[in-house]
Amino acid sequence: AKAQAWSALFDEPMSDLVKRYTASVSFDQRLWQADIAGSLAHAEMLAAQGLISEEDLASIERGMAQISAEIGSGRFVWKLDLEDLHLNIEARLIALVGDAGKRLHTGRSRNDQVATDMRLWLRGEIDLIDGLLRALQLALVEVAEQHVALILPGFTHLQVAQPVSFGHHLLAYVEMFARDAERMAEVRRRVNMLPLGCAALAGTSYPLDRERVARTLGMVDADGAPRLCQNSLDAVSDRDFAIEFSAAASLCMVHVSRLSEELILWMSQNYGFIRIADRFTTGSSIMPQKKNPDVPELARGKTGRVVGHLMGLITLMKGQPLAYNKDNQEDKEPLFDTVDTLKDTLRIFADMLAGQIDPATGNKEGGISVNAPAMEQAALKGYATATDLADYLVRKGLPFRDAHETVAQAVKAASTHACDLSELPLAVLQGFHPQIEKDVYQVLSLRGSLDARNTLGGTAPAQVRAQLARHRARLA
Ligand code: ARG
Repeated sequence: AKAQAWSALFDEPMSDLVKRYTASVSFDQRLWQADIAGSLAHAEMLAAQGLISEEDLASIERGMAQISAEIGSGRFVWKLDLEDLHLNIEARLIALVGDAGKRLHTGRSRNDQVATDMRLWLRGEIDLIDGLLRALQLALVEVAEQHVALILPGFTHLQVAQPVSFGHHLLAYVEMFARDAERMAEVRRRVNMLPLGCAALAGTSYPLDRERVARTLGMVDADGAPRLCQNSLDAVSDRDFAIEFSAAASLCMVHVSRLSEELILWMSQNYGFIRIADRFTTGSSIMPQKKNPDVPELARGKTGRVVGHLMGLITLMKGQPLAYNKDNQEDKEPLFDTVDTLKDTLRIFADMLAGQIDPATGNKEGGISVNAPAMEQAALKGYATATDLADYLVRKGLPFRDAHETVAQAVKAASTHACDLSELPLAVLQGFHPQIEKDVYQVLSLRGSLDARNTLGGTAPAQVRAQLARHRARLA
């Protein structure tokens, strides 16, 4: 008996350990739809070029239809002995349709095959992620719309800085996720290129029509022009498209992680700004009073895992000589896990922030709820309107640096009296500068401060509404 399915060259069989070590079938199975789509496009082109007969093509199509049904229904028997999904599917095809199945691999190698599979699969996942990013942005927009005028202390260095609109704060994340979606779209363009036809590393002696295959697989640009990998050595060996995706996914998770950190802080007893629905929290096995923010904490934790995969993938590439090396089989698990983690995270966050429609009642369930007085109280604590007083003095003719110094003295005085600037009597304020008048109290109010920041991108409710309108139009 032959030691290996494909060759008479081998004198001894693989040990079980080596078999297990080198096989990828346990995890690359999930590429099956891409693998079959690629094979069908290749076979159709082989027939069009007269390299296989129309009867062979029909047999291959029939065999692949059956294999799809078998895999789809879980009846397909994956064999470790056949190493990876490519060889498993090909062996089954040959068992089903005989010689026609043996002709499928004409002008093809697993090297261009697997690169094609990975690109096709990832393209589909990027499209799903695009939809999830859109849903998350819409969830944030929806919550922001409810809280345009709600005042939150804005922080720098985690010290109270200036009052901001809670809606404005949430829309900062919409900007981040919008850029993430843009990055994904750019990555998709470079993912969507065809390696097939490059064969093992050098191209092939058969007159293949690569453009035809690219069109069949939708690997085309906006004008419908086919997008082909242009150098066979590069096409089969580089995984930069996976690394790029992984970098974009990492950044997106970093944005989720920053939001998570804020949710966790905001729902701690010391802040008490928000609550999230119970189904996103868990209790403690010992402390009966606990509701812990496990979901945002896990998202923050899983960010480490996704960034770790990026490091894994980029390190995988760095020492590889041209062209294909088996190292590249290690691209799959990190990439798959990155996609799974990102998709679950985006889904759960949209639900956690905005809630979801209960199919039974049609009501919106869950979503975050805010404690407006706690937010305003916190904003009143840290002299959040000190800058507004300085700006007031500038309007009275003081140079900004002098105004800054004058207000610093006023803050010092207020803090010795343990009161806010707005609680100092007018006479006391006038002691810092004679031009201070009664209208200062409007300036020193949280609301006055918010309304005043009415430049493009600022936190004034008018600006926040303009941002909301822009996002609504963009996401429609
Ligand atoms: N399972 C392999 C991978 O994931 C497929 C390509 C193998 N090619 C080869 N010549 N061994 O990369």
